Amino acid sequence: MDLSYILNELGEERESYYNAVSPPIIQTSNFTFNTVDDFRQALADEYSATLYSRGNNPTVDILRKKLAALDGAEDALVFGSGIAAITVPVLSLLKQGDHVIAVENPYSWTVKLFNNLLIKFGITTTFVNGADAQNIRKAIQGSTRLIYLESPNTFSYELQDLAAVAAMAKERNIITMVDNSYCTPLYQQPIKLGIDLVAQSATKYIGGHSDVVAGVLTGRKALIEKIFNHEFLNIGAALSPHSAWLLIRGLRTLPLRLQRSFESTKTVVAWLKQQPQIDKVIWPYDEDFPQAELARRQMQGCGGLFSFTLKNSALHRIETFCNSLKHILMAVSWGGHESLIIPSVAGIPVPDFDNENPRHQLIRMYVGLEEADYLINDLKNALQQLSF
Ligand SMILES: Cc1ncc(COP(=O)(O)O)c(C=O)c1O
Repeated sequence: MDLSYILNELGEERESYYNAVSPPIIQTSNFTFNTVDDFRQALADEYSATLYSRGNNPTVDILRKKLAALDGAEDALVFGSGIAAITVPVLSLLKQGDHVIAVENPYSWTVKLFNNLLIKFGITTTFVNGADAQNIRKAIQGSTRLIYLESPNTFSYELQDLAAVAAMAKERNIITMVDNSYCTPLYQQPIKLGIDLVAQSATKYIGGHSDVVAGVLTGRKALIEKIFNHEFLNIGAALSPHSAWLLIRGLRTLPLRLQRSFESTKTVVAWLKQQPQIDKVIWPYDEDFPQAELARRQMQGCGGLFSFTLKNSALHRIETFCNSLKHILMAVSWGGHESLIIPSVAGIPVPDFDNENPRHQLIRMYVGLEEADYLINDLKNALQQLSF
């Protein structure tokens, strides 16, 4: 299916709403029925029915069709946050006594899902360095039901070989799931590589304007239908019609925004690598990235998130640098129009900071839609505040 068709037409039935180019926001919780029989059928099969907006809603449905097609998936569910798009399927797939293999250091609330929530139900997790698929193979137990991946990671950018892990899991009937927020379906299509379920925070690139919190899950119809009928409806993390409409609008410009962020990141990364105050820059499409070959084989482009470290990572230097930025904003998240910075130290109590710990030294930057030179000037001025 053509990308342009998916983004501009798929799922839209303009004749049924005055040929409006932009779809209506069907802002309703409820849908009525003319006969008891129609009502009975809808109640018996809510997945196929338009009954109540915690389940299906026509505006949300347009978005689901587009997102499923972008991933090459049979169906998609959308959620009120990215973390709901991760938590709901994980809860759906597992039962007491099951075992999960997860990559080390996934998104912080994903770690909490495995360590704090699943443990309450007797579900255990082994975290492994997924850069080598053999580490995943070695961690498989008789009770392993799920292999959870995040490629690339969004702070330190480790990748997993998705095709290799998917093939290994299939032989053993283990479900694979990946967080694909970094790449979006435009730059990485895990389902085509054999992965079963793909989650994304749509808050990032899909929304693209830092004005909506949302999540996406794609996969085979049978799996998605099972999740919909149980945990999705029960947990009730549905996306509102208005948020769905914002995401449809975001999708129209996704290729342009992603390409712009990718191109500007190349320029900013190349400049940063030349600066005497910078120790290293970590970005999957950089030639010095340890898994550069895998990144280019598996991804069709690269996101605008990267991390770097200062030559001397004393706490006061990291703080002076970040505090001195005027245009690059200090905040969580990414994927919007605005460039952002987040030093690892912001999440570490001051007495726990260890300047020898490479993860503590990381400063993560997201390159938004500003001119690359505008961002470079801001970085230059902030670096000048550091004495050598
Ligand atoms: C990689 C990754 N996955 C998932 C999430 C969760 O998404 P949300 O904030 O939309 O719940 C985030 C949020 O920052 C993220 O960075």
